[in-house]
Amino acid sequence: MSGVGKTSAVIIGASGGIGGALEAALLEEGAFDVVHGFARSREGPHFLDLLDETSIAAAAAHVANGPAPTLVIVATGLLHSGEQGPEKALRDLDPEWLAQVYAVNAIGPALVAKHLLPIMPKVGRTVFAALSARVGSISDNRLGGWHGYRASKAALNMLIRNLAIEERRRNDRAIVVTLHPGTVNTPLSRPFQGNVPMGRLFDTERAALQLLDVIEGLKVPDSGKLFDFEGEEIPF
Ligand SMILES: NC(=O)c1ccc[n+]([C@@H]2O[C@H](COP(=O)([O-])OP(=O)(O)OC[C@H]3O[C@@H](n4cnc5c(N)ncnc54)[C@H](OP(=O)(O)O)[C@@H]3O)[C@@H](O)[C@H]2O)c1
Repeated sequence: MSGVGKTSAVIIGASGGIGGALEAALLEEGAFDVVHGFARSREGPHFLDLLDETSIAAAAAHVANGPAPTLVIVATGLLHSGEQGPEKALRDLDPEWLAQVYAVNAIGPALVAKHLLPIMPKVGRTVFAALSARVGSISDNRLGGWHGYRASKAALNMLIRNLAIEERRRNDRAIVVTLHPGTVNTPLSRPFQGNVPMGRLFDTERAALQLLDVIEGLKVPDSGKLFDFEGEEIPF
């Protein structure tokens, strides 16, 4: 049963570089009575695989059993795996890989929203944030390439805009956004860190604190938009 006035935070993808640092920072801050970290490598009630909606529903039921979630961060994502890297050109397009990238980067976070937004409070400030990427901005795309990653993050941005509109009808103080964490030293970015300017490759602890600062500063009119780690809006 929910304790009166108690709140929880939820991190999806707590096994990841940024997700793990977000979970650790929230635990250390102590602003929430409970911090739930979910990952597909965790056991029991904290298991969650984005490709398995049943596990997302079970995670939501677990969260609903405790203090009300006022912050949900989806910190999962897929850019490359083993032999599969992001596409450099059209000839690299592979339907199975594209479908997998879409499933993890766009469909999974939307399913998390489907099950988590309805159990967030109907009154008061709430934040649902999904980690996206600057390269998912269509207007910012001058380099091309990374077809699946870019397109799936653009799809995520659109889904989040839609969800923000719908969620505002349920709670007029709800904030639903996507966030760009900057280039962060994690397994996801590791093969592509060569061209990052000095001082622009963040460690995960710093990235987490920057994102939590941005989240703290978000206002209701910001809902539905994409922000970078300095709180600057990135146009879609
Ligand atoms: N790092 C950067 O420079 C950078 C830049 C821009 C945007 N981002 C975004 O930031 C977010 C976090 O990335 P990161 O750098 O922290 O990457 P990471 O360390 O590789 O973490 C990725 C996370 O996604 C999880 N995941 C992947 N597929 C999943 C599935 N089917 N079900 C559940 N979880 C799944 C991974 O779980 P496992 O541990 O089980 O694999 C892991 O927890 C991503 O959305 C990424 O696109 C990162």
